[in-house]
Amino acid sequence: MSSLDADDLPIPREHQATPLGEILERRIARRTFLKGSALAGAQSTWMGQALASGAASSLAFKELPHGLDDTLHVPPGYAWQVVLAWGDPLFTDAPGFDPYRQTSTAQAKQFGYNNDFLGWLPLPGASRPSESGLLAVNHEYVSSALMHPGSPDAFGLSREQVDVEMQAHGLSIVEVHRQAGTWKARLASGYNRRITPLTGMRFSGPARGHRRLKTAFSPEGVKSMGTFANCAGQVTPWGTVLTAEENVQSYFMGEARLTEEMASYKRFGMHGSDVARSAWGMFHESWNLDLHPQAGTHAGWIVEIDPYDPHSVPVKRTALGRCKHEGCDVVINPDGRVVVYMGDDQAFEYIYRFVSKQRYRPGETRHNRTLLDEGELSVAEFTEQGTLIWHPLVWGQGACTPANGFSSQADVVIDMRGAADLAGATPMDRPEEIKVNPVTGHVFAILTNNKMREPFSGNPANPRGFNRHGHILEFIAPGGDHSAAQFTWEIFILAGDPQSPVDQARYHPDTSAPGWFSCPDNGTFDRSGNLWIATDGFGRQGIADGIWVSATQGSDRALPRHFLSAPRGAEICSPCFTPDHKTMFCSVQHPGQGSGFDAPSTRWPDFDAGVPPRPAIVAISHDGDRLMGS
Ligand code: FEO
Ligand code: CA
Ligand code: CA
Ligand code: CA
Repeated sequence: MSSLDADDLPIPREHQATPLGEILERRIARRTFLKGSALAGAQSTWMGQALASGAASSLAFKELPHGLDDTLHVPPGYAWQVVLAWGDPLFTDAPGFDPYRQTSTAQAKQFGYNNDFLGWLPLPGASRPSESGLLAVNHEYVSSALMHPGSPDAFGLSREQVDVEMQAHGLSIVEVHRQAGTWKARLASGYNRRITPLTGMRFSGPARGHRRLKTAFSPEGVKSMGTFANCAGQVTPWGTVLTAEENVQSYFMGEARLTEEMASYKRFGMHGSDVARSAWGMFHESWNLDLHPQAGTHAGWIVEIDPYDPHSVPVKRTALGRCKHEGCDVVINPDGRVVVYMGDDQAFEYIYRFVSKQRYRPGETRHNRTLLDEGELSVAEFTEQGTLIWHPLVWGQGACTPANGFSSQADVVIDMRGAADLAGATPMDRPEEIKVNPVTGHVFAILTNNKMREPFSGNPANPRGFNRHGHILEFIAPGGDHSAAQFTWEIFILAGDPQSPVDQARYHPDTSAPGWFSCPDNGTFDRSGNLWIATDGFGRQGIADGIWVSATQGSDRALPRHFLSAPRGAEICSPCFTPDHKTMFCSVQHPGQGSGFDAPSTRWPDFDAGVPPRPAIVAISHDGDRLMGS
């Protein structure tokens, strides 16, 4: 969701003891060439010590200029096409899209709104595995003003419009294939599926069946409402999809203050009627805390979905904790255990890790689907000396005890934020996506911005007050052991304008005029270890959001190049490659944001006077059939 919608609370909980220059001197790796207008003296020292070895990257495309207009741009030699847009049919019997007469039954068979995460899954037995596959797509939220004629607000919707919006949330699982150069959905595919807030789910892990999950629609605390506010996600090594429930708090109506969960909901930013931004609870009681006071504990989880079985019941994996999950990344540790990295996207929230108890067994699907139910959750503290300490969030250890209100691991996972507060975690600048570099094994955490952080109230890993532009951190697991109790960490990039003394940005010194960016949000590694960075919030500064790609090692480390710019109002999410790396998909989310149905600021991608802007997935490829970025 856009940063405007994030529930940022001003909770400056710390004060910076060490000046920014000293932090940078210590924590930006010597192997990074640096560019920035401030601290020029220190910079020359760094440059003198910068790594001389290491090849330049293979990224050779001609960069786009910064700009902002109605449409999407890619570099010369590349072309983009829309694969699926809001309202497109996903089934042979789906009605055509009519934005003036949209219905919930039509929307239930059509591509949803505001696509965010994209995951590519191979088709079993595919003879040309980069020409067809499944896409798993999150539909994070809706923009009522752009969806309906007359631009009603959330509480001016009819019951049918509320139901349209619910059906436009959740996920699409859809088979796509390329024929004669054109990517299309295969409507006759038996895999195609819509998953919505009304799709029945079940819980697993330590909170399953717990008293705090029991309510009239789930008397055993085992079943749940469907999924919604799905932001980023990940395809697991065992072929399932993880989807992260993020800004769930604003969907609930009713008086949160009058429930037994009052303190828990408050810590979650779930204040009930005063912050509800959706009318779901008027027509669907699972979102009404007056009727179901425990319903708020059913949201804010990581959900695992089997995309190969359209009848499978998705599972909310409570062992991974409850927060405003931006996303998750899964890596198999050298010892076979599975490690998941997760960010909680709100100002001053934390970075988490889960290490499974059991080991991954290749090919043993049934076993692997239990891996995320048992293991050790921990939260990150970053020290000035460059140590990342993972503090366990395990009942009976540290502060996770009855004296602090935790009666079991169920309480720890339901109130993961509260447990992290007591563990001494470092408050971060809105952690969005965290991804593991497949070449180096280093972990990259993308922090989008934090305008609530007061000047001089930074900490070593979030060094700038009023952090308008965000930054990217790099964590190094000792010996590649992602289960280690301590890592080291460095600053990879401080985003912003390297020519602005106020921004105090840091990149490679050769960063071009359009090579800098603001508000990084999603990131994806290609198989060469280049980080493809998608932004969300640059557009509000007058420069289109888009994609920048940077080497993470060698002489071009931290040298971003501008690859894609988004249409007005849109953020870009979730760059995602076919196995041959010759096609990249990405999400174009909320084009025209801030305007309305009748006079939108862009009509991308149709540019038809009768059609509002439509969020869409695009496919990008090189005219000469080259690898992406070359
Ligand atoms: Fe859904 Fe934090 O972006
Ligand atoms: Ca976003
Ligand atoms: Ca995001
Ligand atoms: Ca964002």
